[in-house]
Amino acid sequence: MPQYQRLGEIPRKHHIWFHLNHGRPTYKNEGIAYEHVITTEGFNEAYSIMYHIRPPTRVRDIKLIKCEELKKVTDAPLRHHHLKSAHVPRQGDLYTGRIPMLFNQDMIAYRHKPAKTYGEFEYYRNGGADEIIFVFQGGGTLESPFGKLRYRAEDYIVIPRGITYRLVPDDVTKEDYLILESTGPVRIPSRYLNHQGQIRMGSPYSERDFHGPGELLTIDKDGDVEVLVKDGPRWTRVVHAHHPFDVVGWDGFVYPFTFNAQDFEPITGTVHQPPPIHQTFEIRGYVVCTFAPRLLDYHPEAVKIPWVHDNVEADEVLFYVRGNFGSRKGIEAGSITLHPRGIPHGPHPGTIMASKDAVRTEELAVMFDTEHTLELTEQAVALDDENYPKSWLD
Ligand SMILES: [Fe+2]
Repeated sequence: MPQYQRLGEIPRKHHIWFHLNHGRPTYKNEGIAYEHVITTEGFNEAYSIMYHIRPPTRVRDIKLIKCEELKKVTDAPLRHHHLKSAHVPRQGDLYTGRIPMLFNQDMIAYRHKPAKTYGEFEYYRNGGADEIIFVFQGGGTLESPFGKLRYRAEDYIVIPRGITYRLVPDDVTKEDYLILESTGPVRIPSRYLNHQGQIRMGSPYSERDFHGPGELLTIDKDGDVEVLVKDGPRWTRVVHAHHPFDVVGWDGFVYPFTFNAQDFEPITGTVHQPPPIHQTFEIRGYVVCTFAPRLLDYHPEAVKIPWVHDNVEADEVLFYVRGNFGSRKGIEAGSITLHPRGIPHGPHPGTIMASKDAVRTEELAVMFDTEHTLELTEQAVALDDENYPKSWLD
């Protein structure tokens, strides 16, 4: 997580009596707030401590909804793919309408244009994976026990696993997301951190570019609240006996936060720089990179678009957000390309000469490179341009 944050009332030390102020009646009149530690990688890595009005363990009912493994398409050859995901149907609610496109053991990538805010559930929790919601279009508020967090277009919203949340979009019919679900934690690349844990100068962002919740909700309300809990392929209904957003204060390094792609400070060179300069997040089994608007290479003889390359140990995915994609033809905002291992890829014919006099690129794209092979779902294949592998012919 990017940095230490605190919000609301907290006691002066960990694990001491914490009497709620203002003579507030508390659960069973015990008079204290209930400490709730949320930890990562056992108790070894980042953690936060929340203080609830009622014990967060008060669950009234639990019921399995379904267990549904993702199915991969097995009869596709090894080839490049262009998934025209700008055309995914607007469907479902904010949690159940997500359309899986690509997946492996470490991650699932979804596209999602919700048709309505809520179906059966207003509240959702991913118990098995961290989520990155990249807001392609839209804006609104994410509510959680940590408080209210505003989000806007081109934000990465990072939600650590185990956190109950409710998305409150300004206008659900405008929302359009790329969602990455990770079995490993989402982290700042360790090479960007100094020995004190601060983001190094010269990194493509600083702590000031990350935004945590700004205002607590502290909902002091008894009565059932149903939460849809997903962990891997399993979906469970959990009925809490009171509102889970009853937190009076918290501190720590684990909380939902946003980082806007426009705040990514591009690193440029006289000649073409490789993708690691665009790295934004480090996750077990894959990386996320931001190709932000930037000055193109400025050596007088520089070829200004990428070289042909074989990514021999990675599958490479690009999600095109906006701008003119200098090295590609036939790509639109909202497109996804998958360039797997085993086949070279590079600039489309004519794009090298076309970029000769260009000084800047206004393109914005999100890339994720995975260590293990990505599988396509049926929904992805339905959006696939089957002529894309031959698009490098003159
Ligand atoms: Fe590439």
